[in-house]
Amino acid sequence: MCGIVGYIGKRPAVPVLVEGLKKLEYRGYDSSGIAVLEEGGIRIAKSVGKLAVLEEKLASRTFKSTVGIGHTRWATHGRPSDINAHPHMDCHGDFAVVHNGIIENYLELKQWLIGEGHLFRSETDTEVLAHLVEHFYEGDLEEAVRKTLSRVSGSYATVVLSYKHPDMLVAARKDSPMIVGIGEGEYFIASDIPAVLKYTRNTFIMEDGEMVTVSEDGVKFCDFSGKCREKIIFEVTWDSVAAEKGGYEHFMLKEIFEQPKALRDTLAGRLGNDNVVLQEVDLSPSEVASFQKVAIVACGTAYHAGLIGRSLIERWAKIPVEVDIASEFRYRSPLIDDKTLVVVISQSGETADTLAALRESKKNGARVIAITNVVGSSVAREAHDVIHTWAGPEIAVASTKAYTTQIEGMILLALYLTQAKGTMPQEWITEIISELKKLPEKAEEILKQAYRIEEISKLFTEVYSTFFIGRGLDWGVAQEGSLKLKEISYIHAEAYAAGELKHGTLALITEETPVIALATQRDLYEKTLSNVIEVKARDAKVIGFTFEGNSDFDRSVDEVFYLPETVNELAPILTVIPLQLLSYYVSVARGNDVDKPRNLAKSVTVE
Ligand code: AGP
Repeated sequence: MCGIVGYIGKRPAVPVLVEGLKKLEYRGYDSSGIAVLEEGGIRIAKSVGKLAVLEEKLASRTFKSTVGIGHTRWATHGRPSDINAHPHMDCHGDFAVVHNGIIENYLELKQWLIGEGHLFRSETDTEVLAHLVEHFYEGDLEEAVRKTLSRVSGSYATVVLSYKHPDMLVAARKDSPMIVGIGEGEYFIASDIPAVLKYTRNTFIMEDGEMVTVSEDGVKFCDFSGKCREKIIFEVTWDSVAAEKGGYEHFMLKEIFEQPKALRDTLAGRLGNDNVVLQEVDLSPSEVASFQKVAIVACGTAYHAGLIGRSLIERWAKIPVEVDIASEFRYRSPLIDDKTLVVVISQSGETADTLAALRESKKNGARVIAITNVVGSSVAREAHDVIHTWAGPEIAVASTKAYTTQIEGMILLALYLTQAKGTMPQEWITEIISELKKLPEKAEEILKQAYRIEEISKLFTEVYSTFFIGRGLDWGVAQEGSLKLKEISYIHAEAYAAGELKHGTLALITEETPVIALATQRDLYEKTLSNVIEVKARDAKVIGFTFEGNSDFDRSVDEVFYLPETVNELAPILTVIPLQLLSYYVSVARGNDVDKPRNLAKSVTVE
C-alpha cells in the first residue's frame, strides 16, 4: 500500500504535494519522492527514509512549478532505496509516474521493453509503466496511458506527468483507491481523501477501470475504452484524522476490513491453476529433500500463524516441524543445522527476539526463510529467502491482517515444499489452490455479518475471565483469539485444547466464564461437540463458531456464528475474523484505547 498525490493549478506544487504525502504516510513510509514540471523538463527529488528526509532535501532547492506528482512508498518489489523510490521516469525524462499497487506481469514487460532498447534504473515493477507510456506515445498522452494499461495485469492507482503535456495530468485506477479533489481552478489527485482535505471537501471517488484527465480545461472521466462519463461530487464531511482511518472509528477496524484485499494482494502473482510460484524462494527439489525438519520461530500473533503452518507442512510436505516462541528458542539449545529449514515470521521484521533467533539459526548453518510484511526490514534483509505478505502498513497494535496473510504465507510455503517433494497428488494441490482463491470473497461474507459479532460481544463487557477452546487447527486459532481479546479488552482469556480441559482447567469453568468454542475441523467436530457439552454442564455460556453445514450446532450452544465452508486446512483464515471483531467490539464497549492498548508497542525491538 503506498500513497500517491498529483496537483495541477495555480499554487506552487511542491508544498501541496508534500502536505498531501504527509497525510498519506499511514499508507507507507519507507521512501518518498516528487516530480514537478519546470522550464526545460521534469525535476525529480526522492529519497529513502521518512518523508522528513525528502523535505530536508527539498528545503535547499527552489521550485516554481504548479504541476506535479508525489509518492510515499510501502515497498513491494525492490527494496527501499533512493533509486526504487517513486516517481519513475522513461528513458528520456519525458514522462514520470507514481503508482500504488502490484504490476503482476512486470517481469515479462520489462524483458520485452529491454529488448526494445529501454534502459531501466530501478528494481521496481512500477518503472515499466513509464517505459510503456514512452513506447506507446505518439502525441496523445491519454491514448498512450490507455494502451499502457491494456498491457498491464495487476492492481494500480497511477498518475502520469508529461513534459510534452505541461497542462495536464492523466491518472487511472484498478483495485487500488484513488480520489480527485476539485478546487477553484485547481485539481488534486490522491490515494485517499486526507491528502486533499486542507484544500477542498469536494471530491470524486474514482471507480475501478476509470481514467481521469485533469487540466486547465477541467476534469474528464472515461473508462479504459475511451467512453467518457459524468460523475457525482462526493462532499467529505469527515475531519482529517477520521479520513486517515477511511471513515472507520479505529485503525484496527479498518485493518480487519482490509483483509479481503490483503489476502488477494498476498496471493497476487503467486498462484497458477495447478501450482504455486514463489519467485522469492530459491530452493531446488534436492535442497528441499535434504531438510530433516522445519523450525518455525516467531512471537505473539506471528507465533500463532506458525502453529497453523506446522500442521500444513507436516500434513502436506511430510516434514517434521517444531514451532518455538522466539524468546525461548535460543535458550533451549535447539538442534539446528544445515539440514534444518528455519522459518521466521514477523509483521514488522524488527522484533528483537525473532531477529536473534534468525541470526542464531544462520550461525548453525540452517537455511532461513522469512515471512514478513515489511520490505527491507532487518528480518527481510538477513534471511536467505523472503515471502512478503502484501497487507500494507498495519498501524493498530493488535495484529489482524498481518495474521491472516502470514497464514497465507505459510500455506504458500507448505504448497511449495509439497510440490518440490511430490508428497501430495496434483488434483489435491489444484483443489487447495482453487479454495485458496475463494477465501477473500468468503472473508467479505463474514465481514458483512460484523453486526452479529457486535451483538455477541455484549456478553463479554462485564466479564473477568473467559476461555477459547478448540481441537487441532481450531486450537491454534483459539490461541490467537485469546491474545486478541486479552491485549485490547484487558479481559483474562485463556486458549485451551478442548480435549485437555477435563485434565484440570475444567475446575475454572462456571457460569461466570463464557467459553468460545471453535469447531471447524470436520474430523474433530463430534469430539469438540462433546467438550462443548462438558462445558455447558458447568453452566458456562458457550459461543460457538463452526461451518454453515453443522446446522445442529446451535442446539448445543448459547450463540452460534456460522462460517462459509472451506477445506479444513484453510479454515483458520476465516475463523479468526469474527474473533478479531469480537475483541474489537468488547474493547470499544469497555472504553479502551483500541489502537494503542496499555503497556504494548506495535513492534517490540527489545529482548
Ligand atoms: C499481536 O496482536 C501483537 N501486537 C504482538 O503479539 C505481535 O504479533 C508480536 O509482537 C510480533 O510482532 P512481529 O510480527 O512484528 O514480529
